[in-house]
Amino acid sequence: MYTKELIQTANSLVADDKGILAMDESFPTCNKRFAKLGIPQTEEFRRAYRELIVTTPRLGESISGAILFDETIRQETKDGTPMIKVLTNAGIIPGIKVDAGTKDMAGHSGEKITEGLDGLRERLNEYSKMGARFAKWRAVVVIGEGIPSRACIEVNAHTLARYAALCQEAGLVPIVEPEVLMDGSHTMVRCFEVTEEVLHVVFDQLYKQGVMLEGMILKPNMVVPGLTCSKQELASEVADATVKCLLRAVPAAVPGITFLSGGQSAELASARLNAMNVIYKSKLPWELSFSFGRALQEPAMEIWNGKETNLIDAQQALYHRAKCNFAARRGEYNDTMERK
Ligand code: 13P
Repeated sequence: MYTKELIQTANSLVADDKGILAMDESFPTCNKRFAKLGIPQTEEFRRAYRELIVTTPRLGESISGAILFDETIRQETKDGTPMIKVLTNAGIIPGIKVDAGTKDMAGHSGEKITEGLDGLRERLNEYSKMGARFAKWRAVVVIGEGIPSRACIEVNAHTLARYAALCQEAGLVPIVEPEVLMDGSHTMVRCFEVTEEVLHVVFDQLYKQGVMLEGMILKPNMVVPGLTCSKQELASEVADATVKCLLRAVPAAVPGITFLSGGQSAELASARLNAMNVIYKSKLPWELSFSFGRALQEPAMEIWNGKETNLIDAQQALYHRAKCNFAARRGEYNDTMERK
């Protein structure tokens, strides 16, 4: 058992007010984002973009760990350095996405189940040998008319716990991600109810399957109103609801909670994380941090636009977003940081 190593890695991922950078977009997701900006959807452009990210100067000031996609962990920078080595040289802990994406759940219209357990033990051992120290699995819960069903919540929770137990067996810290999607017109109250239920069921399964809570990280959604809900609460209200929900459902033994951004704008994600830490930072059993994908990368990807000449400006944009979220962890973020 890797008890000591797991606890140490999990704590390092949320130490010193730093957070995790999710750069593990699968082929379809990465290509979709490239297509929107007119960037060619080829292996070389994906490689160049990931090189831009990992070579961003001083990224390690605000970023503790980076989640890679299988393609990226096998790639090198132009000068022949493995991406994973560039990260470790920068003091950033490398992680890997290990789920195989979502599929429609049989007999449950509109609901999803995540695949990827087959052969997972062998893949985890391979990633561990390559130098990965943590792994991520994303389960998706959709809010809609009559959904989520209890069946969907239970199968996803069961699967998350099976993945988490396998990770710990291989010495990798599991980043357990049950994402309640923001899509839809539901209220923040509805998001609260669903998130609370999902987290209770997830932690019940983690307990039943013997996952060591001290050696994992939870990556949840914030409790927010649906994207098209007419009532959009203030950042302080989102902070109160999110912390109340987490206090009810997340055991104190978990070292850190690293939120996904889920389609919020970069500024809003920072403002909401900041509001939580302003009010609650000194009062909580776990660290409240970030594991953003879009909210860290989006401005940088837009500036880069597939052109080498934009590289430095894009890296500055990524560095800036990482700094904003580092500040948000300290409760020191404000909009003046956005006026450059
Ligand atoms: P977003 O922050 O863009 O939601 O991505 C985080 C992530 O890793 C989703 O699995």
